[in-house]
Amino acid sequence: MADQTHQAWWRSAAIYQVYLRSFADGNGDGVGDLAGLRSRLPYLAGLGIDAIWIVPWYPSPLADGGYDVADFRAIDPIFGTLAEAEKLIEEAHAAGIRVICDIVPNHCSDQHAWFQKALAAPSGSPERDLFWFRKGRGEHGELPPTDLQSIFGGPAWTRVADGEWYLHLFAPEQPDFNWDHPAVRAEFEDILRFWLDRGIDGIRIDSAAVLIKDPLVSDTYEDNDGIHEVYQSWRRIADTYSPSRALIGEVWLPDHEAFARYLRPDELHTAFNFAFLGAPWEADKLRYEIDMTLEVHAPVAAPATWVLSNHDVTREVTRFGREVTNFAFADKRRDVPSDLALGTRRARAAALLTMSLPGAYYLYQGEELGLEEVEDLDDALREDPMFHRSGGVDPGRDGCRVPLPWSGSTAPFGFSPSDATGTPWLPQPAHWAELSVAAQQGVQGSFLELYCEALRIRREDPALGDGPMRWLESEPHVLAFARDDSFANVTNLGTEAAVLPPHREVLLSSVPLNEDGTLPPDASAWIRLA
Ligand code: GLC
Repeated sequence: MADQTHQAWWRSAAIYQVYLRSFADGNGDGVGDLAGLRSRLPYLAGLGIDAIWIVPWYPSPLADGGYDVADFRAIDPIFGTLAEAEKLIEEAHAAGIRVICDIVPNHCSDQHAWFQKALAAPSGSPERDLFWFRKGRGEHGELPPTDLQSIFGGPAWTRVADGEWYLHLFAPEQPDFNWDHPAVRAEFEDILRFWLDRGIDGIRIDSAAVLIKDPLVSDTYEDNDGIHEVYQSWRRIADTYSPSRALIGEVWLPDHEAFARYLRPDELHTAFNFAFLGAPWEADKLRYEIDMTLEVHAPVAAPATWVLSNHDVTREVTRFGREVTNFAFADKRRDVPSDLALGTRRARAAALLTMSLPGAYYLYQGEELGLEEVEDLDDALREDPMFHRSGGVDPGRDGCRVPLPWSGSTAPFGFSPSDATGTPWLPQPAHWAELSVAAQQGVQGSFLELYCEALRIRREDPALGDGPMRWLESEPHVLAFARDDSFANVTNLGTEAAVLPPHREVLLSSVPLNEDGTLPPDASAWIRLA
């Protein structure tokens, strides 16, 4: 039965992204795992989130942090077992937390059985037809079939022993599936059922807009015809469950209307709002993205989502402390100075802004602690193909994936148990002692307490989550909007104090208000209107 009611959880949920390798290490090998996650469910329940999204947990050689999947129906032994995943789902549900898993339909690992069979099979074989194998150009086929560049840099084609080339939009270890092939479609429908049958409440769909392509005919792989049929069929599957399971697309498309087509009532339920994530800390740009978001979602009646960060982007504490505060993959460089105190202050304000906008809200682990991007990692420790394939020009995404600090004054800060044999797979900065969960819990004014309090109010106040909003009159550098007759958010992105609209009560503010009751710069407040 379809669950399209206004109360459907995914319309308003606060969803916490778990980057499993870096969340909590239960077995002491220095890598986060399911045992660690299960042991921290009380923390997540206490935080007041509605669901967790767990990044790929499948067997993987980790050529792209697990987005190179070798088997879509199993758990990597480094994380645990399928039985443990089932336990986790059960325990999360008992704690009132829904579970979203991550499916990667565009590609697999080069170690996946299908690709290994394709490599062993001859040119033109049915095994190769599941991928994009092609002859090269040049007299001896020594040139790639086209000049297409991969998203991670370098050619999108790699040559195999017999001289053919295969397509990979990402790293060479991530061969692209041929979505024109019915067996690929059938396989993923089966994978979907495999996880939904285990009680998974939602699926995050990786690189959702790039599945359909004809790389010989066109360099365009985004949003091609035929993509919507795939998700319509997935939606039919999701709707056979009661309540309907949520499909959440990772859809990076600059064209807002093209984006909204994925959210029609017979397709995905929601998609990440990257336009908002990428916006700079500037009132007019944020206002534009908020308006645009609401405008494009309205005709398809899908709820918007609001995201400040994830495992692919620079943490906002660092980003907002820089001179240029937007996020764009193409502009990522090393050694860009950041005023972390300013970034932290803005990130607190951004959190209150983001959590009070209409729709669902995503937060990325560590965001609630105010962690910054770790920028001084030793190059030898960096794993991300974005770093390696750019020749080190792009710092890569390791800096937002450093293991979480939970407690204690020295690394691993409770990330691993005290009798651990391994050290965290990426080193944590020494000053994270002050940012650990234990150091912040119950401490008035801490980053974590701000998040807990905001999430609590967001959950309890029916005006928040999905629903209407209207802008209130304000100075140009101030964003002020009401959610109903009583709740309003005011965020000051200017350099001077802002006067709050008439109100009965200040529910929460990112920093203390000025003595005269005005809102300082780079601050945000939730108020009860008079
Ligand atoms: C998505 C993931 C990212 C991954 C890429 C390729 O963008 O979020 O981490 O590298 O897809 O699977």
